[in-house]
Amino acid sequence: ITGTGPSSKVIATLPSGESVEVLLYGATVTSWKSEGGKTENLWLSEKAALDGSKPVRGGIPVVFPVFGPPPKSGHATSSLPQHGFARNSRWEFLGKSAAEDALDASSVKLDFGLSTTELSEEARKAWPFDFGLVYSVTLAKDSLQTVLNVRNEGEESFEFQVLLHTYLKISDISKVAINGLLGVSYVDKVLNATTHQQSDASVTITGEVDRVYASIPQDTTTVLEDGKPRFDVVRDNLSDTVVWNPWIEKAKGMGDFAPDEGYKQMVCVEVGAVDGWQKLEKGEVFEGGQTMKSLL
Ligand code: BG6
Repeated sequence: ITGTGPSSKVIATLPSGESVEVLLYGATVTSWKSEGGKTENLWLSEKAALDGSKPVRGGIPVVFPVFGPPPKSGHATSSLPQHGFARNSRWEFLGKSAAEDALDASSVKLDFGLSTTELSEEARKAWPFDFGLVYSVTLAKDSLQTVLNVRNEGEESFEFQVLLHTYLKISDISKVAINGLLGVSYVDKVLNATTHQQSDASVTITGEVDRVYASIPQDTTTVLEDGKPRFDVVRDNLSDTVVWNPWIEKAKGMGDFAPDEGYKQMVCVEVGAVDGWQKLEKGEVFEGGQTMKSLL
């Protein structure tokens, strides 16, 4: 752990130079470097708040227990802020474990926890359930795995959504294609939340994009640049993916998004369970996550 107070973070490095940095605030991964530490894979705004004053604009914020604006009324999440409380709560660092396989390929796993007792009083009031989250971040030579485990520790059942809001760093949005979503239905938030079907093999981005692809049959979504695979994002027990790029006007409208032109160097590919609700009865556990591979 380095730093104290709200800006404390955990940094792990492999002998071969790859690294990961996780802020305790939100258990937000703010940096993932591969290729011996030479290539940063995550986009982080130059104006991202890293002091616990607001959710981080970039990296991998954890969205729980609601995605987007909560239902206006009538749902247990209705009084929560957009994207819930996990991304703006301080998590606990539970520890680090290292592994080395027969081929001498090492990996390191960092575990973070958040439970009811660590929540702000405001969040606890808004969502009065007993829960425990364990978030595991595993760095290997060419991959980063992030997995969230949700446990119902109370007497009552609860419903939730979860999403890993990954900001991938790319060099030029005009050269990006996202494959693996062909034929999948999506809700287009830019077009009044209407439902469409992905009819091209590649999603390309030439303006604001905010789409929720649901019930995706294929586990892997591939981000290509210039026709070459750049990232594989593999879903594990999560069937939905949001593709988001704010484009120029929305980017300018966000006080913590910098530089203004930064939208050209990022695309969010966010794996989650956000179509409907996951329900956990007393004592039940849900686990879902992603493995991202840097394919340079
Ligand atoms: C995406 C949503 O996941 O997150 C967008 O689909 C939203 O609608 C974006 O604008 C960023 O949200 P926030 O709360 O971090 O500004």
